[in-house]
Amino acid sequence: MSNPRINFIGCGRLGKTLASLFKTKEIAKINGIVCSSISSSLSAINVIGDGIPFKTISELPDANIYFITTRDDIIADMCDELIKKDISNSIIVHCSGSLSSEILIKAKLSGGFVASIHPIKSFANLEESIRSFPGTHCAIEGDEIAVSTIKDLFTKIGANVFQIKKNEKYVYHAAGVIANNYMVTLHHVATQCYEKVGIDKKMATEIVSKLSLEALKNINLMHHDKALTGPIQRGDAMTIKNHTIALSYNPIIQNMYKALGLATLPLTNHSKSIKEEITEILTNKIKSNL
Ligand SMILES: NC(=O)c1ccc[n+]([C@@H]2O[C@H](COP(=O)([O-])OP(=O)(O)OC[C@H]3O[C@@H](n4cnc5c(N)ncnc54)[C@H](OP(=O)(O)O)[C@@H]3O)[C@@H](O)[C@H]2O)c1
Repeated sequence: MSNPRINFIGCGRLGKTLASLFKTKEIAKINGIVCSSISSSLSAINVIGDGIPFKTISELPDANIYFITTRDDIIADMCDELIKKDISNSIIVHCSGSLSSEILIKAKLSGGFVASIHPIKSFANLEESIRSFPGTHCAIEGDEIAVSTIKDLFTKIGANVFQIKKNEKYVYHAAGVIANNYMVTLHHVATQCYEKVGIDKKMATEIVSKLSLEALKNINLMHHDKALTGPIQRGDAMTIKNHTIALSYNPIIQNMYKALGLATLPLTNHSKSIKEEITEILTNKIKSNL
């Protein structure tokens, strides 16, 4: 489909980035935009440089593609509104990481083709998101026609699109939470531990950042097992035991240490007996502390 007409239902951080990229690359016509208020739709249009604001979904002009880029928990409601219009042969797509295209089932039953496409990227700052979008990995699933059209559109703005199974989106999305969100958590917890022993916050943050960056650098240079250092890699059972005892001042951190230790053990090639000894230390009371 060349130069499709696109409507955006919800045009916040992600919607504005996509619409701006489509407009700049001249690969689509941004038709109508509906946000939660006209003023917000107008400000999106000012940023994008294309499109017309509408108060309601029912007022939107016809389009080849409807992007529902609201927050996840109202996508189904937006779809309910949308099917009051004639959407036969249109493509309806959302960008949630955890929800599949199944949430758009009513649009499919109304004659539309549905898909979900999830860019694995944090869209915090608009200019930076637009600049750094090329190369972004995007997971797609849905109806064949919708998948092929949306994949083509995203490839033209530089995305690296790959297919995912509809029923595996939650595990897929959890991976991103672990990789991005929990990286922040790990950084925060390690900083807290340094502060607990009297190191000031600024220095603690610097130390943790350096250690984290070193680990990431090593992972990119070699396999996970080769990048691993520390007591679990060495098989220092006594050190691991002392860590778990010392961390008892904070059961959440203590249990986090234990759970991550158990996930780390398979990266080592210790003997069965050493693995069992470490497992015993790390599983001891883990449940009662939770
Ligand atoms: N942000 C990310 O890093 C990221 C990454 C990957 C995927 N996603 C996915 O992208 C989607 C959008 O996320 P986002 O971060 O762009 O959200 P967002 O910045 O909060 O934008 C949501 C948009 O929906 C509009 N909206 C809210 N209620 C509405 C209603 N009743 N009718 C019409 N529009 C309404 C908002 O309007 P107002 O502007 O008037 O409030 C806003 O324009 C989500 O499915 C999310 O999972 C986001």
